[in-house]
Amino acid sequence: MTTKKYETVLIEKQDGITWLIMNRPDKRNAMSPQLHLDMDDALAELAVDPQTQVLVLTGAGEAFCAGQDIKLYFRANDDAPAARAKARHASNQWRWQRLSTFPQPTIAMVNGYCFGGGFTQVCACDFAIAADEALFGLSEVNWGILPGGIVSWNIAQTLNFRDGMYYALTGDTFDGKKAKEIGFVNFSYPKAKLKEETIKLAKKLMEKSPAVLRYTKEALRAVRFMNEPQAADYLNAKSEALRFVDREDSRSQGMKQFLDEKSYRPGFGAFKRPKATPA
Ligand code: ACO
Repeated sequence: MTTKKYETVLIEKQDGITWLIMNRPDKRNAMSPQLHLDMDDALAELAVDPQTQVLVLTGAGEAFCAGQDIKLYFRANDDAPAARAKARHASNQWRWQRLSTFPQPTIAMVNGYCFGGGFTQVCACDFAIAADEALFGLSEVNWGILPGGIVSWNIAQTLNFRDGMYYALTGDTFDGKKAKEIGFVNFSYPKAKLKEETIKLAKKLMEKSPAVLRYTKEALRAVRFMNEPQAADYLNAKSEALRFVDREDSRSQGMKQFLDEKSYRPGFGAFKRPKATPA
């Protein structure tokens, strides 16, 4: 599959990892309507790309994402309802629907500034890894709006209530280390080690069965909105479905290797996957 070229998005593929890069470094990767359209298209393509085993979302240059482009996304569309609606649709579509349902594992690699609307794509990814030096801020309050789009919903789900309320109402910034401390990201590393550590996590994920990873992430996301009987029923059905869609037959492979061959212990690593079977 050829990799498409976009005006505001860069795609780089290496060893099963696809790097999806918000690419407006001069504007600190603030999200213009064009960036939303480009991302929406890019994610639709990558979702069915056999080369993409893990997707890493990051930003070009010094920033991860400085939020919505205040000039192009907001002011330029103030009196243009059709353009505003189109941009808003693409904005929500890629940052939440496409990313949170992406078939392969996703990692937000927060390399620098992450403000306002940029929080949504961090929350949509399955994992987030920040540079210690990254700077996060819900700056909306500082210029007279509330965390809209779905940012307030994202914060309410991802942060504890006290931290969410504090950062949304004060607009105080926090760095990568603090983001790790309050559970907004999984890990924080010095910037010099950020890419290397991200690749390590991606490689660990690539050792597992892609179908099992996909069904597991879908299950964890879905059960958050269910009660216990609904979750039990859903998980039974999902488990049955996984056995049909898993081309590697991971369940039988795992049992065989543990019980018959005694060649591995599931408590300490992945079973040996058959070679070259794309999901
Ligand atoms: N919207 C539009 N343009 C932006 C944005 C943005 N969100 N963020 C940065 N830019 C532009 C600047 O206007 C500037 O453009 P120019 O070179 O044409 O003057 C360029 O990016 C560089 O910005 P600087 O402020 O010069 O860069 P610096 O590295 O000093 O600061 C920072 C970066 C901290 C990100 C700062 O630009 C900033 O505070 N941006 C706004 C962040 C914000 O509040 N985002 C939330 C938006 S609201 C929402 O998402 C719902």
